[in-house]
Amino acid sequence: MCGIIGITGRDDALEHIMAGLGRLEYRGYDSAGVVIANSSASGMDDGQLDIVKRAGKLANLAGALQGGSLTGRTGIGHTRWATHGAPNDVNAHPHTDPSGRVAVVHNGIIENYQALKAGLSEREYASATDTEVVAHLVAEELDRVDGGDLLEAVRRVVGRLEGAFSLCFVTLDAPDTIVVAKREAPLIVAHADGVGYCASDVAALIAHTKQVSALHDDQLARITPDGVEVIGLDGSPAEAHSYEVSWDLAAAEKQGYDHFMLKEIHEQPQAVLDTLRDRLTDGKLHLDELRTDEHELGRIDKVFIVACGTSLHSGMVGKLAIEHWAGVPVEVEVASEFRYRDPILNPHTLVIAISQSGETSDTIAAATHAQDQRAPVLAIVNVVGSTLARQADGVLYTHAGPEVAVASTKAFTTQIVGCLLVGLYLAQVRHAMYASEAEDTLRRLQQLPGALEKVLELDGQIRDLADRYKDVHYTMFIGRHTGLPIAYEGALKLKEISYLHAEAFPAGEMKHGPIALIEEGSLVVALAPEGHVFSKMVSNIQEVKARGASVIAIGTEGSTAALAEHADHILTIPEASHELASPVLSVVPLQLLAYHVAVALGKDVDQPRNLAKTVTVE
Ligand code: G6P
Repeated sequence: MCGIIGITGRDDALEHIMAGLGRLEYRGYDSAGVVIANSSASGMDDGQLDIVKRAGKLANLAGALQGGSLTGRTGIGHTRWATHGAPNDVNAHPHTDPSGRVAVVHNGIIENYQALKAGLSEREYASATDTEVVAHLVAEELDRVDGGDLLEAVRRVVGRLEGAFSLCFVTLDAPDTIVVAKREAPLIVAHADGVGYCASDVAALIAHTKQVSALHDDQLARITPDGVEVIGLDGSPAEAHSYEVSWDLAAAEKQGYDHFMLKEIHEQPQAVLDTLRDRLTDGKLHLDELRTDEHELGRIDKVFIVACGTSLHSGMVGKLAIEHWAGVPVEVEVASEFRYRDPILNPHTLVIAISQSGETSDTIAAATHAQDQRAPVLAIVNVVGSTLARQADGVLYTHAGPEVAVASTKAFTTQIVGCLLVGLYLAQVRHAMYASEAEDTLRRLQQLPGALEKVLELDGQIRDLADRYKDVHYTMFIGRHTGLPIAYEGALKLKEISYLHAEAFPAGEMKHGPIALIEEGSLVVALAPEGHVFSKMVSNIQEVKARGASVIAIGTEGSTAALAEHADHILTIPEASHELASPVLSVVPLQLLAYHVAVALGKDVDQPRNLAKTVTVE
């Protein structure tokens, strides 16, 4: 999704804006642009807003800027993920009013932009975007406001906007000022060493400061080299949510790996270790950051898990764990569906919202829907201080560190661990498990990081398989019980970054339709780790093998003999110390398979086409 960075108070603003945009590339985008408020050096004229924007990658923008003379201490950069209007130079942000007095960049959607246009006198628009009309409106308002105060003009306009947005403005009238506004799309502000900053995500600012403030919905801010002033939509002073970013610049860099995705796959042992760390005190599981009352959780009689994409698949493992350990019925639902139906919710329904970013608009909306009906929401989130983390009644942080590749890997395995922890915790507070049993299970989970290291040793074998099967036209992933969510995740990974046709099915459903797709040359990836459905999986593998498929089976050390008879290849993972934890290990070969296939096909692994890391629009 779109990215924003604004800087005011540095002579080299443009250089740092471009570097910040580079750190936002991972979000996914299709054009980029910058505006620099170039106040007249002589003071004899009004100066100008210099704008350069280009379709395509940031390199195109950098090329267009080369040799130019964009100087100025204040500027804004933007990467656009097209919603209204094609991804071309004209529709790229920033946009201005016709006189070029105000420039704006925008993340999100202005839903009533047509109505707003209709309310203005007849005029020409340069672009097909929903954003441009906002620049027109603010420029008009500037004429009406005392002293041409940009913050006040923006405040008046924002009150008329519908939709989800973060907006960032500069004007020639005050060339050392940036004004921002936020509703349902993330925006952070910061001030350090005489420089003011704003950005859609901390990654853009981490090189400058770790001390940031996240604006709440319907807050606006005036950012100058002297500081940041935050107000509410009614104009009164307001407080943003200030916090310190817990990771540093090195964590957001590739550190010698060819791609962020590969680096993040290899970070999984550490990420899982960090997520499990310090959870046990005096033999009892403690989830200190949870903020939710133990007794309230003890009275829960139903759980919904809502999430999108990869996070949804971790929730499917969560369902198995919570039902097994805590004995509470769990439904897992795509967040975008949950918000538009009438789920039965009450104060005894726990809604668990899982999100790496904590900014996914559908997941946030589902959480809001639940809270409106007084159901407590527990968020399992990776990004500290994110919208969902702040909005939820309780939060469990996964400690995966920054995840940059669009295709989620380490966030996923830590989300599963988060779900296992919540399952054990619910079992504990509901007295569904002996304390010693919960403690023993938790201790056994501590073996996961070591086991993950061993799984990563499969890398070479998987690269060979990727070379061999990269041209297969259809891949089917099958699994049962804990293998099923991983089958879904494996198919999603392959689609996301290699654009190959991949699907996943419950292995037991094959004979009700999907097996008709199997023919000579099809590839089937079968999740067959040790467990109570192992022999069923062996039968399913035989069925697809008999119809001409090549089979890659994921099996567990010590139980691969039965697989060896039928599968063409076996990727052997260590025992997981608990059947419910096996997905943490079994997903890794599928992440590596997707990665190596995409590399072999020459795809853009970290920024696949059409996809965004954080989906802040519906
Ligand atoms: C996008 C990303 C996925 C991610 C999903 C949910 O589609 O590309 O990797 O799983 O959003 O994101 P969240 O931040 O809520 O986990």
